Amino acid sequence: MTAQIIDGKQVASQMRAELKTEVAELKKENIVPGLGVILVGEDPASQSYVTAKERACENIGIYSDDNRLSADITQKELLALIDKMNNDPKINGILVQLPLPDHINESEILLAISPEKDVDGFHPTNIGKMVAGQKAFLPCTPHGIIQLLQRSGVKIEGAEVVIVGRSNIVGKPIANMLIQKAPTGNATVTVCHTRTKNLAEHTKRADIIIAAAGRPNTITADMVKDGVVIIDVGVNRVDDTTKKKGYRLAGDVDFEAVKEKASLITPVPGGVGPMTITMLLYNTVESAKIAAGK
Ligand code: GUN
Repeated sequence: MTAQIIDGKQVASQMRAELKTEVAELKKENIVPGLGVILVGEDPASQSYVTAKERACENIGIYSDDNRLSADITQKELLALIDKMNNDPKINGILVQLPLPDHINESEILLAISPEKDVDGFHPTNIGKMVAGQKAFLPCTPHGIIQLLQRSGVKIEGAEVVIVGRSNIVGKPIANMLIQKAPTGNATVTVCHTRTKNLAEHTKRADIIIAAAGRPNTITADMVKDGVVIIDVGVNRVDDTTKKKGYRLAGDVDFEAVKEKASLITPVPGGVGPMTITMLLYNTVESAKIAAGK
């Protein structure tokens, strides 16, 4: 079997077109969704993510307030900027790009963002609501993965899902979302991580594998069953002298070999990545609607 490719770019552009129409409608009522973006330091991957997020905002008509700060900013200065954005009615969503430099206390920063503007879904209030199955801003990457699965016709209910990775951004939240008693949940979920004894033993029985380990070739063809659905969240730079930049992007999955056994697979780039940004736009528009009493 050769897998069908799940085209994240295409799903994302369809959703963005829907959002663009919605933003244009809101504009008629003088409602302009706004996103405050904070990037600390010069990490090249973070810089390119943030640039992509800002371009996407511009493209669908969301106002974005761009703050690129030096790596030596203090905790106090960063908290003051968040406080200003919390109180700015033009800002409906606040995005602090992670990771932050080591001298910054990340959990204190995330806690300072008003839960009503936490469009990343990283505030403990939103995490708690999500776990309890209440309405909340859902973290963008997991929410995007669920959209991709649903829109590709994958049955989540009853599926054996194996997640590889236990990060706060992907592994933990996607596990929670998939076990909810909801049409987008009802899966049987296993979370594997660096201390898992025999990873292949778990991945071999999975109907759906979500690879979010941050390491290339974590999932190889011998580790999956025929017909598996593969969601590859990895974004790794691997040396490639044939490329002008000297590297190429690769996921966590050995794409070429695994696609011969899978039924559906996301590519890297062009799979999960475009969906993460789309769900951020979605949450920002939702936040603006809630703020306007809609
Ligand atoms: N770093 C990697 N992924 C994300 C994300 O979804 N949001 C933020 N704020 N930082 C990230």
